[in-house]
Amino acid sequence: MSRKPRVIHELPADLDRNRLPNHVAVIMDGNGRWAKRRGLPRTMGHRRGIDALKNLLRYCRDWGINALTVYAFSTENWGRPLEEVDFLMALFERVLMRELEEMMEEEVRIRFVGNLHRLPGSLRECIEKSMETTRNNEGILLTVATNYGGREEIVRACQAIANQVKQGTLEPEAIDGALFEKYLYTAGTSDPDLLIRTSGELRISNFLLWQIAYAEIYVTDTLWPDFNSHEFHLALCSYQQRERRFGKVGTRE
Ligand code: IPE
Ligand code: IPE
Ligand code: MG
Repeated sequence: MSRKPRVIHELPADLDRNRLPNHVAVIMDGNGRWAKRRGLPRTMGHRRGIDALKNLLRYCRDWGINALTVYAFSTENWGRPLEEVDFLMALFERVLMRELEEMMEEEVRIRFVGNLHRLPGSLRECIEKSMETTRNNEGILLTVATNYGGREEIVRACQAIANQVKQGTLEPEAIDGALFEKYLYTAGTSDPDLLIRTSGELRISNFLLWQIAYAEIYVTDTLWPDFNSHEFHLALCSYQQRERRFGKVGTRE
């Protein structure tokens, strides 16, 4: 049975439709602190973080953003207590299965990037199923970085390229930025235009090291579970006030 048609949110009038970021990336940080402030276990923060992600995905779709990439689990997050890691893996699996039908209705194409081999087998199966099922959807591309590390991604690309050279199928002189990108997990996707980090930390934490070379960075003190459409609106307003120079000379002064 299909759901009732849902309300489509209008783009706020102070945003210029023609100057929206094509691709937004988010370091969804602060779930643990959100829970701690309420005297709740950290896992509750992760649960609420899923609601915030669903909401953001919806606004991205409605406001005409083509790609959303989110950091769900880093290569360093394995160092957390086992209960938290296990909870997160089980949560990812549950959410994926629960949301698949709605993703189909909303034409979302989901993709996972990261070293997926280390994830539990049952989660890997869900990941493969969700990617396969939504493969031909033509709406927003949702990329979920899971067991993702920017350094690991770059090292892996180097190994693959070195192998090609060793086999004699690639000349070292042919290695350039465009070729290198083809070996990254994110091959074929344009770089993020806007990188948002919640919870106030002023660092990248190993996220998309190559791809964010010229992303505009927006950091808010708001903790991820509290990140709502108002917060997103503020981030987009800030983005639209920037002059992206890409190393060239600006036109504003
Ligand atoms: C981000 O929130 C979610 C993951 C890293 C999985 P945190 O769990 O890092 O929350 P804080 O930073 O400890 O508050
Ligand atoms: C980055 O947040 C990873 C994710 C949001 C998944 P962390 O909480 O792991 O980063 P640090 O430890 O504050 O740098
Ligand atoms: Mg954190």
